[in-house]
Amino acid sequence: MVIGTILVAGASVTASIFVVQVAVLPLIFKYSKSVQRKMVFSNCINYPRHLDYENPSSCNVVGGRHFNISFQSVVDSCPIKLGAWHIVPCSMFREVFVIRDYLSVDARLHNELKRTQNTVVLYCHGNSNHRASPHRLQMYKVFQELNFHVITFDYRGYGDSTHVRPTERGVVEDALAMYAWLIESLNEKDKPPVIIWGHSLGTAVAANMAANLSDLCRTQGRAQLPPPDAVVLEAAFNNLTDEIESHPFSKLVSWLPYYKDTFVKPFAASSEYTFTTDQYLCCVPDLPILMLHSKGDKIVPFNLAVKLHTKVAESRQKSNAPLVFHAFERGLGLGHNNLCEATELKDVVAQFLKQVKESKKPRPKIKAKKSLSKKSLSKKSLSKM
Ligand SMILES: *[C@@H]1O[C@H](CO)[C@@H](O)[C@H](O)[C@H]1NC(C)=O
Ligand SMILES: *[C@@H]1O[C@H](CO)[C@@H](O)[C@H](O)[C@H]1NC(C)=O
Ligand SMILES: *[C@@H]1O[C@H](CO)[C@@H](O)[C@H](O)[C@H]1NC(C)=O
Repeated sequence: MVIGTILVAGASVTASIFVVQVAVLPLIFKYSKSVQRKMVFSNCINYPRHLDYENPSSCNVVGGRHFNISFQSVVDSCPIKLGAWHIVPCSMFREVFVIRDYLSVDARLHNELKRTQNTVVLYCHGNSNHRASPHRLQMYKVFQELNFHVITFDYRGYGDSTHVRPTERGVVEDALAMYAWLIESLNEKDKPPVIIWGHSLGTAVAANMAANLSDLCRTQGRAQLPPPDAVVLEAAFNNLTDEIESHPFSKLVSWLPYYKDTFVKPFAASSEYTFTTDQYLCCVPDLPILMLHSKGDKIVPFNLAVKLHTKVAESRQKSNAPLVFHAFERGLGLGHNNLCEATELKDVVAQFLKQVKESKKPRPKIKAKKSLSKKSLSKKSLSKM
């Protein structure tokens, strides 16, 4: 009797899962923009909760200060406030944070940013949660150990930033506003290296912003900003439609004959997000790029990063800007969120930055042959540069 009931219950659970999978999910998906949006941005997932963002040390950040930036959004026609942290390099925080007076710490850190020659990272996080998510905190520690300054922030709709529904143009506008703040905070004449680091969905945000910088500045009525020195893409995909098709969630439903029409096409057709990183990056052949990807990544499969790399490499045959793809082998326990644990990560990043620096050095002048007049030759070779 009991077993019979369990069997019947089991069968009905199986049957209802089947109905949900075959009929309900596709309908919800095809017709609900908000479900699609939630899947892309997942900003309703918000863990850990109830944080005191204004007190970074209560969120397990050592050597960080909170700040806000505010601006009028052109995309959403409303005021936006973004919550952010400035996290200082290891070499600095002991000295700066022995002082108890937080106001003067704030002023001092701003001065430090004006003076620093250390690399500065603008971190664009991926979807779901906020800047205090544990795997992100772990990555900030790696940056600190590399003696980088880190600027990390929440897009609209995330963390303590203004709660407006995120769209691709919206989050890119946010990244741009943070980048503009950062450039203004640095020494104009002797600017340290600036990297835009994107993780997961944030790689598409970083790529869009970096590739579209001058257009974005113009349409937003901002002064033109200098390009970043490099972009680092951690666990990137080539475009969002390919990523949606490869997401573990899709495996549940990809056997349905109407799968592409109901699950993939709505994303491809949406004007709120295209996240076509491959197309963005093909427009900036001179931008140094480092791609980091684990072969064991189950959220963004490795082959999507290979596709991205192939396309970008094809687009820059004439450029000598570094385009480095570092793959982390399967079996090291590295997946989508924990490349910060890779032992070689710091070396890979440092090596790449060295390469970027080398590539920016002026090319050595062609040595003049004795028989030629040095003057005319150097003029010629200059005009070719
Ligand atoms: C950030 O904004 C919040 C709310 O608008 C405000 O209470 C807080 O004082 C601001 N913090 C800073 C450092 O400006
Ligand atoms: C770049 O920005 C402009 C202005 O916002 C926009 O029209 C264009 O579609 C953007 N390009 C990309 C690749 O996002
Ligand atoms: C995404 O990439 C695939 C190739 O892998 C291509 O077929 C598709 O058209 C691309 N989608 C967009 C929106 O660019």
